Amino acid sequence: MRHFLDIHRTDPGDLRAILENANAMKTARAGRPKGTPDDDLPLAGRMVALIFEKPSTRTRVSFDMGVRQMGGGTMVLSGAEMQLGHGETIADTARVLSRYVDLIMIRTFGEDILHEMAEHASVPVINGLTDNSHPCQIMADVMTFEEHRGPIAGKRVAWMGDGNNVAQSFLHAAVSFGFDFTFSGPVQLDPPEALVKAAREAGCDVRIERDPERAVSDADLVVTDTWVSMGDAESSRQRRHNLLRPFQVNERLMRAAPDDALVMHCLPAHRGEEITDAVLDGPRSVVFDEAENRLHAQKAVVRWCLGV
Ligand code: CP
Ligand code: NVA
Repeated sequence: MRHFLDIHRTDPGDLRAILENANAMKTARAGRPKGTPDDDLPLAGRMVALIFEKPSTRTRVSFDMGVRQMGGGTMVLSGAEMQLGHGETIADTARVLSRYVDLIMIRTFGEDILHEMAEHASVPVINGLTDNSHPCQIMADVMTFEEHRGPIAGKRVAWMGDGNNVAQSFLHAAVSFGFDFTFSGPVQLDPPEALVKAAREAGCDVRIERDPERAVSDADLVVTDTWVSMGDAESSRQRRHNLLRPFQVNERLMRAAPDDALVMHCLPAHRGEEITDAVLDGPRSVVFDEAENRLHAQKAVVRWCLGV
């Protein structure tokens, strides 16, 4: 059975095949009304459960639409409204849902929850974000970069700000897709040392650069994300803002980047905090292509999981 739990747990050849399929499906339905089915219906007769223990707009709607376009059915479940949120174990939830549905996507807190779900489910499980990873996002990001600039291998991604879940999945992707990575943020919010070490040992040039302008100076892609993630304590907000303010992606910072450097943000953006309107809405930003590609990339992930 194929779970899609993380970038580094998926064979790089399979990641590539997933992106090729995503591109093919995107091209095949270009210009078509969004609610119409694809020509092929590989998910006909299949049901997918989408479980959210945290809020979501993109993940929720893109998975739901994607599965429907491929002929499948979906049910969106909020963790709080399930017995899961009232003491039923993850393991029992996994066993029960596996009797009803063909695939489970879960957005949750700790990685341990995701892994427990996968261990006890007898259907594929997809990671829709945890406190430590967001692999579906990164698949869309790599797809988007390559649409605009060609192969990402050998390029450099500069991450500005918090070494959070999305940053950590980018580090995994640097190994799988062969790009280099610069992290620029406060030392208190570095990505885990073990992850940096593993990426370096796998041959990635990973730089930790405290000076934001130097960090973007040779970047092909500049990426940022919220300063306070859904898994972070609300009480840490002020401290995080104070630490992260110097790493805001604004026009001044982007003047230090190469002219053709792209800008990404997984969204939702906090305009005026981690990124300014001028950059987010500016010519180098590809954030809405990135959001669209969640749909295409995840359709291919679902097909890969189900082998259809
Ligand atoms: N980027 C992303 O995962 O967005 P949502 O939180 O809206 O799903
Ligand atoms: N780092 C953010 C990503 C949101 C899609 C969070 O976890 O809240």
